[in-house]
This record gives sequence, structure tokens and C-alpha cells, in this order.
Amino acid sequence: MTDPLRTAPAAAAAAAAEAVARLTLDEKAALATGASWWTTAAFPHADIPAFRLADGPHGLRLQNDERADHLGINGSAPATCFPPAVTLASTWDTDLAARVGSALGRESLAHGVHVLLGPGVNIKRSPLCGRNFEYYSEDPFLSGILGTAWVNGVQSQGVGTSLKHFAANNQESGRMSVSADIDTRTLHEIYLPAFRRVVTEAKPWTVMCAYNRINGVHSSENHWLLTELLRDTWGYEGVVVSDWGAVVDRARALAAGLDLEMPSSSGLGPARLLTAIASGELDEKILDTSATRIAALAHKATPQNPAHADHDRDAHHDLAHEVAVRGAVLLKNDGPLLPLDPAAGPHIAVLGEFARTPRYQGAGSSRVTPTRLDDALTAIAATAPAATVDFAPGFPVDDPDGDVAALRAEAVHTARNADVVLLFLGLPPSFESEGYDRDHIDLPSEQIELLRAVTAVNPNVAVVLANGGVVRLSDWIDAVPAVLEGWLLGQAGGSATADLLFGHANPSGRLTETVPLRLADTPAHLEWQGERGHARYGEGLFIGYRHYDARDMEVSYPFGHGLSYTTFAHTDLRVTQDDAGFDTTVKVTNTGSRAGHEVVQVYVGALDSEVLRPVRELKAFSAVSLRPGETRDITLRVAREDLAYFDIVDDAWLVEGADYRVEVGASSRDIRLATTITVEGDTYADVPDADSTIAAWRTHPVGGPAIDRLLERVRETMGDAYPQEGSPRYRMIADMRLSQLAKLPIVPLDFTDVDKLLAAVHTGPGRN
Ligand code: BGC
Repeated sequence: MTDPLRTAPAAAAAAAAEAVARLTLDEKAALATGASWWTTAAFPHADIPAFRLADGPHGLRLQNDERADHLGINGSAPATCFPPAVTLASTWDTDLAARVGSALGRESLAHGVHVLLGPGVNIKRSPLCGRNFEYYSEDPFLSGILGTAWVNGVQSQGVGTSLKHFAANNQESGRMSVSADIDTRTLHEIYLPAFRRVVTEAKPWTVMCAYNRINGVHSSENHWLLTELLRDTWGYEGVVVSDWGAVVDRARALAAGLDLEMPSSSGLGPARLLTAIASGELDEKILDTSATRIAALAHKATPQNPAHADHDRDAHHDLAHEVAVRGAVLLKNDGPLLPLDPAAGPHIAVLGEFARTPRYQGAGSSRVTPTRLDDALTAIAATAPAATVDFAPGFPVDDPDGDVAALRAEAVHTARNADVVLLFLGLPPSFESEGYDRDHIDLPSEQIELLRAVTAVNPNVAVVLANGGVVRLSDWIDAVPAVLEGWLLGQAGGSATADLLFGHANPSGRLTETVPLRLADTPAHLEWQGERGHARYGEGLFIGYRHYDARDMEVSYPFGHGLSYTTFAHTDLRVTQDDAGFDTTVKVTNTGSRAGHEVVQVYVGALDSEVLRPVRELKAFSAVSLRPGETRDITLRVAREDLAYFDIVDDAWLVEGADYRVEVGASSRDIRLATTITVEGDTYADVPDADSTIAAWRTHPVGGPAIDRLLERVRETMGDAYPQEGSPRYRMIADMRLSQLAKLPIVPLDFTDVDKLLAAVHTGPGRN
């Protein structure tokens, strides 16, 4: 959107530089560090206003500076608590993510917040990460697309965002110091693409560097990450801000590209900058550059448009309800239990404390004080006014003194005579939070024991789950006919749950992470959290479904799975290729009797690749709404560049010339249609040098034919002794370095030939 308050980039940069020119050295150093917990420093004489940052991401956490914290300890002003990222992502709906973003932008405006700290696009490497509820997915493509939509939504309101945590913040244990040790290809293909997409497509006003180290270097001091990659390669022009307290050495951080240290560091950050500049360790020009970026952001952020500030709390509650309805995932629904018919089942037992005391968000810096809170128990009673609704809490939540046996007995008694049991299970709040990880993925044992006791007296049990990270289902799910995975549903989750259970809304969420059979099956299991300060990402590219598919492992529920009260058919797959990628078109029909959303998913896998590649990777998707009987042609675009892998020799993305399998389905393991296309590879090739092997020379478009001509000379000399192409002996020649071959006395090649070859490849087409 065009905002009249925004200045043209060149003029804005000039105004910021002029403002910074009016600052003393001390003032510039002070500008590069927060003035308080949530605000930057103001310099009215230079026309640099302060701006305010606040968490994020699923609601506004506005605190006053006297009782501020970044761990969710103190309270904050009431704000709409939307469902956290895990649930928003399960909608697979970019429009919805953008609408939530704009609503958050409006709430930020209303509270004078200039930069909202989100989204978190870190990859869910293990289900154990305590902060998985704040992240979108195990898949980088999905995370990047949703993050882009969310940032566009917030920023459409003239409020900035902070893309976090850059990068590879995939565990909470040891997060302030642990080194994520990741090989180059995995870093580029799994842990960076979501950041790259959001940076290049949505231009977040700030990027927040992570606490952890990457390959031994603190993210806050990582010049490669913050400058070479982010700015020089991705073209980022905004402000890099530290995670709260992530700066280790202020001078090294500034030199690496970290513009703004947050929060205030009691004067230590600015003092360190001044000493470093005085001693010549740090060039003042680097400080000027960062100060100019911060001033430009202050100019851009502060003249907020009051016309956008109004928001209707009820409308935002309704939006939170819509996301909750769309994000809950119906994992299992065998038989006629769901949707419930209030008339057919007049006696409903609602069991489990979470029905009365909802678990609706995670803990830590993202904790929001909701404007209101729906609970499922009240909503169920209101939805089925003619029914008898009996409640029993069933188990204690985070209460070591709770009487487990008495609570269970009461719940079993309540279940015994009911027509249907709605059993609310989940993770107690203490199980998952920013700052620490889980050490298992099981539900508390008293909950599973309750489930067993209840199903023994009443088989009509639908389980509703509340958990921010994946829980193990395989040890109990066979005992119940229906399971609704509610994740964390935000402040309207209770009413959304009732709507879904009674069929006033049709479940449409799809898993954005695999539910494994057991923790030991998960990709990072053996090396999770690492040792002696280093977490080695030994599983490489094979995270989430990439891991389970490559090893052909059984899972409880695959990535992309989710049921509906209706059914969908996919037919008539067509693929149309062009130079920039291809369009996948498929007919999708709602074959059932209720309106619903299908999430059409396109996966692509390279066949016969030169390098190790996942079997399939998500490359396009769309959440489509269809009336009963309705058919629509859905066209999903796959960009050519999204077929590339990161080549470690060339340090560049490369589209391989190969056949690619294009699959369309309702989940990564429910592929309905597939076809194979041939994609021409990037025409450039490695430029070989004297020490490249003969095999490498033969792959070059100019060098290949030239080396073949020289080998012909060798063949003529050797006659029948020359090995047949493809034979083991031929491979021995192919493995030799060109310079090695040229040195051998009996081979009729010398260094004049080598020089000629080198000249030929350097004037011919070369990579980069
Ligand atoms: C978190 C960030 C958050 C910041 C400010 C840190 O503890 O890692 O995500 O934005 O605090 O509260």
C-alpha cells in the first residue's frame, strides 16, 4: 500500500544522514543502543525521535518500562491474543496470516508501538524445542510464505516487524551460547530460506539476530550472516537489532553489521563503542552507517497514521476465532461421533481441566494478556442448550499436590452414563516455554491413565488436544475414535472448539509438522542439543518429512495431514512449463455434503540427482474453500529458482538439469496425482582449472569437448591399450588432475595444452 507518510527512499536516506551528521560521537554511540527496555534514544536537536518496540508475535505485549521483561514474567496491557504461529500456520492460509498481521499492526498503532517483534521463522528441528509454538513449521518453504504474508500484513499499517531469530535458533537449551554447527548446504536449504524469502519479498523493517552461535560465531558478531549474506547477497536495507541481551561485544557486533543493541545495556554498549573507536579498533564510519539506518527507521516509524489506529476489539476477537477454527487439525475421525449432534446425544461429559481453564498460548516473551477469554466448557453448554453437560477436571494441571486418583474416579463416574465424552487433554503450561526444551513428547501419564479409564467405561470419546509442540499419540490413539489437535487456539479457542465439535464449522487445519510414532524416530534425536556447547546438525537436510520419507518410516500423522467433515477429489493434473518455472493445475471437487477447505499441496522431487536430495519437498500450496459439489481449477505456480539446490563447490544455487516428479496431494503421504517433467539445467558450469580432474573438465561446455580432443590424441598414441569409456580403468584416468596427466612422460600432453585449455574456458561461458 502507498502511505502518504512514507518518504521516497533516497530522500529518506539523505534526511537520516543529515540528522546523524548533527550528532556528536557520544550521541551516535547512544543511538545504537536502546534507551530503555523497549525504546530507542531520542535526539530532538537532530530531529531523531525515539521509537518503541514490543513483542509479538501473536499479540501485543505492551509493558511499561518500569515493569518490563523479556521472559513473560510481568504483565502487559490487554491485547487480542491470536492463536500462536503453530496454529496460524496450520491454516496454510496466506490471506488469513496477512489479515492477522494487519490486525496486529492496528493494535500496535493504537498503543504507539512502532515495531512489533515477530515473526519467528525458525525451523522446528525437533518437537522438543520449547518454543515450537512460536514457529510455523518443519518446512522452510511454508515458513517463508506465511512469514512473508504476516510481515506484509503488519507493515501495511505503517508498523514495522522484526524477523527473528536470525538464524538457526532451533533449541532453547543453552540458547545464549550454544553453537549450531550446520554444514553449508543444510544452512542454505533448510535454516535460511524462510529468512531469505521474508527479507527479499516483504522487506521487514528490522531483522533480529539470534542468541546462539552458528558454527562457532555468535549470531550478533557474525559478519558473514549479518552483512555478507543479509545485506550484500539478499539486499537487505533495514535495521539489524539484537535479540534482547544477545550482544556479547558491542564493538565486534557493530563491525559485523548489528545496528541496534537492545535493550539498554546500562551505558556499557555505547562506552565500548567509544573505546573501540578511540583505539582505532573500530572505524567511526561503521557507526555512522548504523546510526543512519536507525535514524531512517525512526523517521519512517514515528509519524504513525492515526487514521489506522482505531480497532474494534470484538472484530479482532472474531478474527482470533476464525484463525482458531481454521487452524485446529482433525487428526482422526472414525465413525459417526464427530460432528456431534446435540439432539442425538443429550448427555455430554466434558472431562479435563483444559475445557474449563484453557491452555491457549505459550510462555515467555510472547505471552499476551488477552482482552477476553473463551473456554470450551461454557461454549459447549451454550452450543447444546438442550443437552445435559457434566464436567469433571479429571487430572491436576501443574499441581504436584493434586489428588490424581480422586480426580480420575470422579471423571470416570461422569463418563459412565454419558452419551458422549469430550476429553480435553494437553500439555500443562510448565511443559513448554521460551527458555527451555521438553525432554520427552508424552502427555503427562495421569492424562493417559485417565483416557484408558474413561474409554473402558465409554467408547464414545473424542479427544481435544491443547499443546504447542507435537505430542506422542501412538500409545493411546487407538483407544478413541476421534482426535482434534487444537494446538494453542488463542483467546477465542474455547468457542472455536465448540463450533468445530458440533459442526458449526468444518475442520480445515493441516499439520505443518510430522507427528512421529515416538521421539526416538525424530531426525535430530541422537544429536539434539549437542554436547560441550556444540549442537551438530548431523541429520543435515533431512528434517521433518524429508527425514521420514527418505528412510521410508512410518509416522503417526504425516506433514500436511488433516481431515474434514467433507471429502475432496483431485483430478486432471496439468503442468505447463515456461522459462521461469511451471504452473500446476488441478481440478478440486468437494465431494461431500458440507462446505469446507481443502489445502492443495504440490511437492517436487528431483529424480536421478547428482547430489543427495529429499524425496519430495513442498513447493506450492493453497487453501481452497469449496461449497458441496463445487469444482474449481486450482493453479499453483512453482518458480524455477525453488527447484535449485545449494551447490557447495560453487557456493551458489543451482537448478539441475533433470527429470522432476511433480506430486499433488492432500498431505505429503496422500499424493493423489503425479507426473514427471524435464527441466533444463542452468547452462553455466564449473570453470575448471589445472588441478581439476579430467571428469570435472568433461562437464564444462567448452572444456569438455576440448579435453575430449586432447584425450583423442592420447588414445591414438596408446592404441588398443587405451581404456574403454566407462570402464574401471577409464575411471582411473577420469579421476586424475589435468596437471597430473600433463606431467606424465608417456602421455602426449604438456603444459602448453593446459594453458590453451585454461584460455578456452576463461573466454567461454562460465558460472557466475
Ligand atoms: C526473545 C525474543 C523477544 C525478546 C524481547 C527474547 O527473550 O528471544 O523473541 O522478542 O526477548 O522480549
